[in-house]
Amino acid sequence: LRLFSLNSNRPLAEEVAKELGMELGKADITTFEDGEIRINIEESIRGDDVYFIQSTNHPSNDYLMEAVIMIDALRRASARKINVVIPYYGYARKDSKERPREAITAKVVANMLTVAGADRVVTMEMHSPQIQGFFDIPTDHLSAAALLANYFIDRELFGEEVVIVSPDHAGVSRAREMAELLNAPLAIIDKREEEEQDIPHKYNIVGDVEGKICILYDDLIDTGKTVTIACDTLLEAGAVEVYACATHAVFSHNAIEVLDQSALKKVVVTNTIDLSQKSLCPLVEQISVAIIIADAI
Ligand code: R5P
Repeated sequence: LRLFSLNSNRPLAEEVAKELGMELGKADITTFEDGEIRINIEESIRGDDVYFIQSTNHPSNDYLMEAVIMIDALRRASARKINVVIPYYGYARKDSKERPREAITAKVVANMLTVAGADRVVTMEMHSPQIQGFFDIPTDHLSAAALLANYFIDRELFGEEVVIVSPDHAGVSRAREMAELLNAPLAIIDKREEEEQDIPHKYNIVGDVEGKICILYDDLIDTGKTVTIACDTLLEAGAVEVYACATHAVFSHNAIEVLDQSALKKVVVTNTIDLSQKSLCPLVEQISVAIIIADAI
């Protein structure tokens, strides 16, 4: 078994390698002057089961292209099996055709990886689990729910006074998994797009949150808008305090500032996306999925 890291999340790859008691393989990833990527595997991997770790967060196009080129390099170097570990599967939010003449990018990515020569894909908390069906090769869809639930169990935040809240209808089964782990009831935010809402922008809630501690659980936090508006809505409905947790800390633009200025008590995320270049605020806590990925490998 061989394990490589591309450029998107080397710290996580190193942690996974440590969990597995192995060294990361050597691959030279460089670019031509115009930004085109070239990859050279610097050791023989002939006949080996090879894994590489690459999230496809921003810059998604570059990181996705790195993955595709790596698959080709491994194939041409006669790897026995090419296992692509994508802790954060970007382009997943377009997983169906909601409007006429719209692309389904989650499927485009699945096609690119498969055509390039991937034998198996290991990913985590995709925007919708059905994306697994976009692949004709084996896929493993890992969940961070237990890891995130443990964060709250360790802080004795569970039981009757806690409600798990799905920030939109699409995330209900994900939130239910967390609710079961914490033995807590479920509430759902009826999220509507801004243009359909009156100003000031607010969401409706299905479920009882009055006098409760609310834990919002989402697949990802991008701009921070969803959890921030959800938090205000829950507090207005009588929630005592609101926590947010999500698997993927996409954190575009000034998301960290937005979260910092929100009424959220804590934002718990994982390290499927490398945040080492961003300055986090004390509100945001990051926990590692390395053990989950190492177990899957
Ligand atoms: C939406 O369908 C996703 O599950 C997230 O709720 C959303 O993408 C979060 O984005 P933002 O943080 O920009 O509101």
